[in-house]
Amino acid sequence: MPTHHSNILITGGAGFIGSHVVRLFVHNFPESQIINLDKLTYAGNLANVADLEGKPNYLFVQADICDAQTLDALFERWKPTAVVHLAAESHVDRSIHEPNVFLQTNIIGTTQLMNVCLKHWGENLSNKLFYHISTDEVYGSLGPEGYFREETPYAPQSPYSASKAAADHLVRAFGNTYGLPFIISNCSNNYGPYQFPEKLIPLCINNLVHRRPLPVYGKGENIRDWLYVEDHAEAILTIFQHGRLGHTYLIGGRNEWRNIDLVRRLCQIYDTINPFGHRDSEKLITFVKDRPGHDLRYAIDPTKIEQELGWKPRTTMDDGLRRTIQWYLDNQKWLQGVVSCAYRDYYRQMYEER
Ligand code: NAD
Ligand code: DAU
Repeated sequence: MPTHHSNILITGGAGFIGSHVVRLFVHNFPESQIINLDKLTYAGNLANVADLEGKPNYLFVQADICDAQTLDALFERWKPTAVVHLAAESHVDRSIHEPNVFLQTNIIGTTQLMNVCLKHWGENLSNKLFYHISTDEVYGSLGPEGYFREETPYAPQSPYSASKAAADHLVRAFGNTYGLPFIISNCSNNYGPYQFPEKLIPLCINNLVHRRPLPVYGKGENIRDWLYVEDHAEAILTIFQHGRLGHTYLIGGRNEWRNIDLVRRLCQIYDTINPFGHRDSEKLITFVKDRPGHDLRYAIDPTKIEQELGWKPRTTMDDGLRRTIQWYLDNQKWLQGVVSCAYRDYYRQMYEER
């Protein structure tokens, strides 16, 4: 029987995955107050959760997870008994250019949040939960064979993944040292609506619409294991309700793609939808300078979550890509809103000046 939490704090709920998680929790827990705490960095956007405004069990708070005083006041006022922690700096390329903010938010911020949980939960740690959302990148890079499993040793290779790995270690250390009741899940690459167009799939969709080159790093041979974001949100809900304390769950869709094959498939589906009479989109594919230290392959063995919790993804890749392309086509206003001056500067620096 899952524990009832009157107040649930979700961090990073104005971001890509967080917005889907907040929406699912608001709908699934009508008797709980869902508090969405987000700093609203360049990646956070209240338009991602605009449909939730005015719902009686939903509340948004703009705050930085590094700001202990504000967290303290929030815990004093709302007394959340469960935290689902997604707030993070999340883009690998940005971490290569500017690692410090990743250390600040992903490591210090996560620690501040746990400190505040312990302070307010005190000795009474029963029926409490700190659920930390992490990534498969903490396990490093695979060769052509093998899979990441819960017991795979950590071997992060980018500033982003190293900062997430450090956070995971700290969560386990707080569990071991102070008894913090925690769960960690590590997921593979997500795609779907509301993803910021710095990540491969939405960046390519935006470029397809504007007939700009589709930049594929290196030879496009790197492999990622893709999961539709709503399937990830459902996995998080399942783990939140039924996961075992102190456990780690790996989440993935058994869905590996070489980048070049994925971008080709995206072009084919885009051409089938054919929104503006565009065709031959594959001609836009352009190989560009590789990402430094580019991990070759990620692949998850999701046996534990499948067998223990009965979770499986519902969305096939073609269906997920079609829905994603259609969403971006239907939400050009959203896209224009996030493709600001700052985004144009980033794009120029990343793709045109190197
Ligand atoms: P995102 O970049 O889209 O969103 C991150 C959110 O966190 C934004 O709303 C941002 O404003 C907020 N945020 C950043 N710094 C903050 C701070 N200091 N205080 C409060 N809020 C802050 O990220 P995403 O892709 O939705 O990823 C969410 C989480 O899931 C991250 O922890 C990420 O590591 C993890 N994850 C992502 C993927 C993926 O494919 N995107 C896969 C596995 C795990
Ligand atoms: O595996 C989970 C991780 O997936 C998450 O933890 C990260 O937050 C998320 O950003 C994602 O990391 P990746 O680096 O795998 O995602 P990205 O979309 O940036 O890149 C996917 C692949 O495509 C990767 O091999 C790099 C490549 N790529 C990316 C971009 C932006 C290109 O070839 N061209 C591009 O322009």
